[in-house]
Amino acid sequence: MEIDKIPINFFCLKKQLKEHKEIKKDLIKKINKTPSGQDIDSWTKIDKVDWFDCENFEREWVIFLKPYLQKLFIEFANEINVTECNIKKIWFQEYHKDGKHSWHVHDSNYTGVYYLNHDSSVQNTNYYDQYNDEIKSFNVKEGDVVIFPSFLLHKALPNTSSKKRLIVSFNLDFDGISNQFIKKWVD
Ligand SMILES: [Fe+2]
Repeated sequence: MEIDKIPINFFCLKKQLKEHKEIKKDLIKKINKTPSGQDIDSWTKIDKVDWFDCENFEREWVIFLKPYLQKLFIEFANEINVTECNIKKIWFQEYHKDGKHSWHVHDSNYTGVYYLNHDSSVQNTNYYDQYNDEIKSFNVKEGDVVIFPSFLLHKALPNTSSKKRLIVSFNLDFDGISNQFIKKWVD
């Protein structure tokens, strides 16, 4: 028997972190002090990453950044009809010249990226739209934060710029359906 399918659309969301310019320098300084490793194979080249510590919320850069992100996540929550957002994992990734990250998915219900240091003229994240069988992307500039469902196949294209691409990535659990939504779709 074949698998039956119905198409359901969803949005990937993007918004500029208001405080980006104000916090960028200090945040990068704190990230640069953090122990990190590499993730390199034939499809992926991430030059610096602290994924191994992604559930440690006591890292100095995480303590510093979390309140700013949390405010923005609540705005995103509102947009998708939920009320809470719990950050489950958070880590940074730095891509030097030709750095890239092959197709993958994440755990939790949403995932996302904060483009902390990024050459805006270089294409970055691609998403696979299964329904239309095509690749989609945002035009991202430094300071943008994007979120998308964690099951969505995505990849980071090679960094063709000599400017290092530094991103913060996170896995989020959104929860709590908004009253507005419940009232609208009452049985
Ligand atoms: Fe990812």
